[in-house]
Amino acid sequence: MTGQRDRWAELTGGQSGEEYARRFAQLAESGHDIHGEATFCTALLKPAARVLDAGCGTGRIAIRLAELGHHCTGVDVDPSMLAVARRNAPTQEWLLGDLTRLDTLGLEQDFDLVLAAGNVIPLLAPGTEPVVVRQLAAALRPGGLLVTGMGLDAAHLPLPEPPVTLTEFDHWCTQAGLTLRQRYATWSGDPYHEGCGYAVSVHCRPAP
Ligand SMILES: C[S@@+](CC[C@H](N)C(=O)[O-])C[C@H]1O[C@@H](n2cnc3c(N)ncnc32)[C@H](O)[C@@H]1O
Repeated sequence: MTGQRDRWAELTGGQSGEEYARRFAQLAESGHDIHGEATFCTALLKPAARVLDAGCGTGRIAIRLAELGHHCTGVDVDPSMLAVARRNAPTQEWLLGDLTRLDTLGLEQDFDLVLAAGNVIPLLAPGTEPVVVRQLAAALRPGGLLVTGMGLDAAHLPLPEPPVTLTEFDHWCTQAGLTLRQRYATWSGDPYHEGCGYAVSVHCRPAP
């Protein structure tokens, strides 16, 4: 750990939960599908799977996954984001915690799928990315999947430039014992190609 604040907290001051939720509510009202990530994950899962939404924010995805029949736990370090999740789905499991120390939260480390969507990886504190990837990998059962979505250029990030390259990310995954299974450019499954600006990656923790 570096002791630095995560990039999301630097951007928002840790106060943006309501505004973030409002933005997605407006998108939904104007006819946008705001459940692409949950739909994508469900296609990879058996019914009633165990899912960890790492950096769950306001619970947008975790709540949809629960509606689709999965057992979804959300973890986030920003109390303003989690407050929205708790209000919208009080009976779901929401944990305030730092992904660099996921192993201290008392979770069973046997998730079928761990999700880090909405640019969680590029928004981590600088230097903590390999630790977090290791923690996310360790939370998977053998055969379990790590699903991530991250911007690769300024047009797909709330940052002036990408802090993390896909090559670096794949290297951290390999170090954590994960293998790349699929990669797309969107949550709808459009093919990934160099320069497309966004990557949805599915890494697998190999079964022994
Ligand atoms: C852009 S939001 C995405 C929220 C949600 N995944 C979504 O797609 O709607 C990024 C989230 O990552 C969380 N985050 C960043 N670093 C974190 C860390 N070290 N531990 C837990 N959450 C973290 C932030 O608090 C924030 O809620």
